[in-house]
Amino acid sequence: MSKLRICLVSSEVAPFSKTGGLADVSAGLSRWLARRGHDVRIFTPLYERVARAGYPLETETRVGDVSVPFGDWSQEFAIRSTPLPDGGGNGGVVPVHLIDCPGLYGRERLYSSEHGDEALRFALLSRAVLEACQRLDWFPHVFHCNDWHTAMLPVYKRTLYDWDRKLWASRTLLTIHNIDFQGVFPSSRIGDLGMRGLERHLHQGDWARGEINCMKSGLAWVDWISTVSDTYAHEIQTAEGGRGLDGILRDRSGSLSGIVNGCDYGDWDPATDPHIPSNYTRDDRSGKLECKKRLLERMLLPYSADCVVFGMVSRLTHQKGVDLLPQVLPAFLREYPQARVVVLGSGEARYEDALQWLRNTFPTQIAIFRGYHEELAHWIEAGSDVFLMPSLFEPCGLNQMYSMRYGTIPVVRRTGGLADTVRPWNPVEETGTGFVFWDFDPFALLAEMRHAMGAHAHPPAWDTLVENAMREDWSWDRQGVHYENLYRHIASR
Ligand code: ADP
Ligand code: GLC
Repeated sequence: MSKLRICLVSSEVAPFSKTGGLADVSAGLSRWLARRGHDVRIFTPLYERVARAGYPLETETRVGDVSVPFGDWSQEFAIRSTPLPDGGGNGGVVPVHLIDCPGLYGRERLYSSEHGDEALRFALLSRAVLEACQRLDWFPHVFHCNDWHTAMLPVYKRTLYDWDRKLWASRTLLTIHNIDFQGVFPSSRIGDLGMRGLERHLHQGDWARGEINCMKSGLAWVDWISTVSDTYAHEIQTAEGGRGLDGILRDRSGSLSGIVNGCDYGDWDPATDPHIPSNYTRDDRSGKLECKKRLLERMLLPYSADCVVFGMVSRLTHQKGVDLLPQVLPAFLREYPQARVVVLGSGEARYEDALQWLRNTFPTQIAIFRGYHEELAHWIEAGSDVFLMPSLFEPCGLNQMYSMRYGTIPVVRRTGGLADTVRPWNPVEETGTGFVFWDFDPFALLAEMRHAMGAHAHPPAWDTLVENAMREDWSWDRQGVHYENLYRHIASR
């Protein structure tokens, strides 16, 4: 089997920089590819927090200090490299090429639209990748771009860099992790995107309206498009789910695939997880009870032998269905005094406030931790009985997969990757791995939370459900092969 050269470009890579699942996927897929013996390299910005974290950084002298022309001015960058921690196992190493440009990336937060230069920041990311590959004389079979932040790379490759014959053989793949974010800028930002004089290569309808849409431009130029589940691949081709890009996606449906993300069970497995109070396995789950007790203690909630813990770890945005919680939880918690709810998340103030109100109203049943906390996320996966993901839409979702591995039963809405990964519990056949509702409606969620309470009250059936969930395999070993096949397919075109 021939070795592939894959250049993965992403605005987030765990453990360096993470706001959501994209970071886990960038790292997990790359590690798996390296384990398979492929030559995979990651390009991502050197954000302030990465620079401060003390990783060993080596300057790529072959790249040097590069000055990228953006019309009548230029932007400087250099490349510092470091291996992805825990590489690919079996000797596989993933070099991470960090783009060093303190003026654009030396900020506390990964995304900073308040500065007004997001177009430039991520235009530089794409252009730095192409400039660096030229200087390293390393030309991948596939440039694997992710989300709008890197969507302009295929456009640049076919316009600004079309003179370089060595780049001609490389193909491009754009994975959509979330179509809600498209990178839309007023046409006055054309200079920041380095496309002045090349306006004809942008979407002409948008241009006439005074806009540039990075995601749409990328979708028009990229060789292949993928997204992170089959169901989401269909949803984004509909008027409801496409957020205005459904037309172009339907036009390109012959070059569009859905691949469910893999999970890095090296990081997310209760048998080996170093974060949780007690490890456990499918065959010996005694540690899970210990995790539940310790979680409640940590969150200052009372434990009782019959209590049932519902966990949630999420960005607090409309995508995640947080609107449903204040409508459902008061009735639910009154009906089931033995229910406990633990939420970890940060996001929009209105959701944080609504959750705080719930906490004040039901102080012995709900606990909230506002913010980002890696260890607590693991504790909640391990110490909860049920995991809530009532998302309005969910391209893939990782937490429902992590939950299943931890024997924590997901309650999900049937959308995107949640529909593809959680099978509804059937108490007669004793099949299924979770509780699934369809309508985005508080009664539908409440009904499935009641089902979960009912099932939990029958220990033998609950044991079977937990065992089914823990048996699920969403590893990269299983999912990575789909990417490998796709890369080969694209590379051969
Ligand atoms: P999304 O990328 O849309 O946020 P995913 O389910 O794909 O959703 O991935 C979310 C990832 O981010 C998971 O690894 C989850 O544990 C993590 N996460 C989300 N919010 C927090 C938080 N407040 N603290 C710690 N981890 C979080
Ligand atoms: C996005 C999606 C999420 C997905 C993640 C990784 O953030 O919201 O559903 O799991 O990307 O692909």
